[in-house]
Amino acid sequence: MDQQIISAKDNYAGLDKWIYDGGVKKILLVCGKSIYLLKEFCKKIDEIEGKGVEVVRFHGFQPNPLYENVLDGLNVFNSESCDSIIAVGGGSAMDVAKCIKLYSEKTDIPFLVMPTTAGTGSEATRFAVIYRNGEKQSITDDSIIPQTVLMDSKALSTLPDYQKKAAMCDALCHAIESYWSVKSTEESKEYSRDAIRRIIRNIDGYLSNTEDGLSEMLIAANIAGKAINITQTTAGHAMCYKITSLFNIPHGHATILCNRVLYRWMLDNTSKCSDERGQQYLKGILDEIGIALGASDGKNGAKTLEDLFEKLELGIPAATPEQFEILKKSVNPDRLKNFPIDLDEDTIAGLYHIILR
Ligand SMILES: [Fe+2]
Repeated sequence: MDQQIISAKDNYAGLDKWIYDGGVKKILLVCGKSIYLLKEFCKKIDEIEGKGVEVVRFHGFQPNPLYENVLDGLNVFNSESCDSIIAVGGGSAMDVAKCIKLYSEKTDIPFLVMPTTAGTGSEATRFAVIYRNGEKQSITDDSIIPQTVLMDSKALSTLPDYQKKAAMCDALCHAIESYWSVKSTEESKEYSRDAIRRIIRNIDGYLSNTEDGLSEMLIAANIAGKAINITQTTAGHAMCYKITSLFNIPHGHATILCNRVLYRWMLDNTSKCSDERGQQYLKGILDEIGIALGASDGKNGAKTLEDLFEKLELGIPAATPEQFEILKKSVNPDRLKNFPIDLDEDTIAGLYHIILR
């Protein structure tokens, strides 16, 4: 099924069409409490309610949402007899909404999401993460990919600069990691290439809040999401999770910290390639990533990524010896399987010393 992308133009005409053509009468709106910042969208929702469509708001969830949050949402969905779901937010709102839809066992209900960051690409994937009894649970099901995505560039313009940069880095790292993943296909690589190019082309417009820059970044993050929907992520993401929690930095900041180092390291270690397609193939891929980044080859591509990281001024956290110990043991070896070069614990420890100060 092809995902339908609609825009916010003409006072959300696409949303009206989604409601009236889909016979939607009662919407479960899964959203964070900061939804009030999206003034025009909220006005539109009020207008929809004024025309007789019921909207039941659900924001009983937290960042890194819990299984219990999903059950609460499911309870509201069922007891209110909702016939459709809209999720508005970054990763958490979408994860909760995806799980509510899955547990409702109503696979064909209209499901629309509006991403409020250009980063996670969650609107394009079959994945959701929730926490149950303190354990991370990864849910994968094709039925939770939203049929419709509403892209509203205005939703991004209120974000703080640092959050915007981090979100963009997350999208860029999805595209890059998917490109070198052992699970890549011709289709996923086409998505990766497209996403990387779009991000590089639109960094300045996006950061200065031009209409075009914001819209293009939303599209790029969505396309990068389509790439990881096929391949999943690799070592960069596996290594970044503990950095996020230890130093309390956004996920996207941690992903680029790792990938700017991994890219260069890979160029020097293609002889240890574990991708069945071989060392020459991997060298070619690292060059292709460089070219998508606007450089002449892999080596210059790695430099481009390092320069971008510098330009964004995100900063490099300083780790204590104890933190380095925690980090090297934090990486789940299962999650490294998609990475095209085998990584042992000593190598990972060494990499963390380059990634952090
Ligand atoms: Fe990510």
